[in-house]
Amino acid sequence: MPANVPPGGLHKPPVTDRPANNDDIEGIHSLLSHYASLGALLPRARTEIEENLSHFRVIEQQGEIVACGSLEHFTDELAEIRSLMVTEGSKGQGLGRAIIDSLIRVAREREVGRLMALTYVPDVFHKFGFKTVNKEIFPEKIWGICVNCYKFQNCDEIAVLLEL
Ligand SMILES: CC(C)(COP(=O)(O)OP(=O)(O)OC[C@H]1O[C@@H](n2cnc3c(N)ncnc32)[C@H](O)[C@@H]1OP(=O)(O)O)[C@@H](O)C(=O)NCCC(=O)NCCS
Repeated sequence: MPANVPPGGLHKPPVTDRPANNDDIEGIHSLLSHYASLGALLPRARTEIEENLSHFRVIEQQGEIVACGSLEHFTDELAEIRSLMVTEGSKGQGLGRAIIDSLIRVAREREVGRLMALTYVPDVFHKFGFKTVNKEIFPEKIWGICVNCYKFQNCDEIAVLLEL
């Protein structure tokens, strides 16, 4: 169920937190391309976003996507937060917190036991109780996905894990 969340307080336009739909593909891809070009996130092809659209949640404000993130399952027990991002103009207003809270809530509803992420901003995840861990404990991720990444040999992302 979509939920209205007020991270910015009463003076901010209301935001809607909801699952992504086909109309969001362009917005998600464009935001991801922006942060990939800055090296903040790994790039994902538009087709990959289309194929994984059901994993994404978005936060919309005044008809625009201002934040998004995806929840991708490796197993029933282990899932990953990926493609977490907030538009440049909307950072620092609690929208990152809102999308992470939303993805954690969905993971709990699905009874996922462990939620992980690979990130350059571990401190953001630490705010939610994630702990920094060794990547090697996620062979599903390393040998299923990372092995195809151009950074595989020199990965500098940090693994974080939340036990739900
Ligand atoms: C990381 C990102 C999603 C945070 O979104 P945001 O809306 O600015 O974050 P919020 O305002 O909700 O802040 C949530 C908490 O994280 C903290 N935080 C935000 N950015 C941070 C950073 N770069 N480093 C450390 N802490 C940070 C905030 O202080 C806040 O803590 P608090 O609630 O205790 O005050 C956003 O900066 C972004 O899109 N960055 C580019 C893409 C990226 O790096 N994504 C992460 C990939 S895993």
